[in-house]
Amino acid sequence: MLKEGVKIIASDEIYSALEISTGSKLAKGYSAVGIPYMTNAFRPTDEWRTVTDEEISLLKAGQAQSAPSSTIYIFDFPEFFRKKFEELNTGPVNSKRHFLKIQSDNADFFKNYANLVNKYCAHFLEEGGSIAKTFFSVNDGNLSTTTKYFKGKQYAGLHIDNIDNLTIENARYANNRLCINLGTQKRYFLFVNQSLSEMKDWIVRKKGSFNQKNTQWHLSQLFCRTYGTYPIVRIPLQPFQAYIAPTENILHDGSSIGSTAPDITYTLLGKFAL
Ligand SMILES: [Fe+2]
Repeated sequence: MLKEGVKIIASDEIYSALEISTGSKLAKGYSAVGIPYMTNAFRPTDEWRTVTDEEISLLKAGQAQSAPSSTIYIFDFPEFFRKKFEELNTGPVNSKRHFLKIQSDNADFFKNYANLVNKYCAHFLEEGGSIAKTFFSVNDGNLSTTTKYFKGKQYAGLHIDNIDNLTIENARYANNRLCINLGTQKRYFLFVNQSLSEMKDWIVRKKGSFNQKNTQWHLSQLFCRTYGTYPIVRIPLQPFQAYIAPTENILHDGSSIGSTAPDITYTLLGKFAL
């Protein structure tokens, strides 16, 4: 059963479209495109249902100021950015390879577009903050989980980012990320609505202890093994919708399940306010 924890700031339309899974499971074998999952990787189960009103009230952020380290913000990008992206005028992008070709053939366009998005997103930065890193990504459609490790050779499954190289205790001080759906179809942000310190406490409660040498990767595995029936929440993101999420402080992944087109995103790392 879903418990109080990480919150979402979004429109009522998004709240009522939230879904939860029956839990997580070991991701064995290969993804739909034949790339293996890492050993001991976990992914959500395939059974999803829409959230109840009670679950929405658990997930919905209240009136008080929300902490960026434990809140996810969903918002629409201005129409300008869709129109600008459509100026590329490539026709339907039919594969990841096709998109990479478009990107290399139109390097200047992508550079200018990134500059425009960066300028717009800089307004979300905390006072004195800067954008640490930006990148375009493309994934295949219809994938349960999208993140790959080891130069794209293996799927990570549900994971905790640790680009800032912080301990589990300090993960709440990490940069968060802003990510926009530049594709033509819906994608999802998947997450467990508990911060790393909560996940660690839950494990201690059940197992009696938590090895201090455990990394974020160990914590993800331990959590999914110990609380395999705890629901994963998924937030639908339509084209040109974006999220700001504390991806170093929550267990998460992207998903392109159900999509027939490549999953294209642009991501910015930094200290974004909500
Ligand atoms: Fe991630």
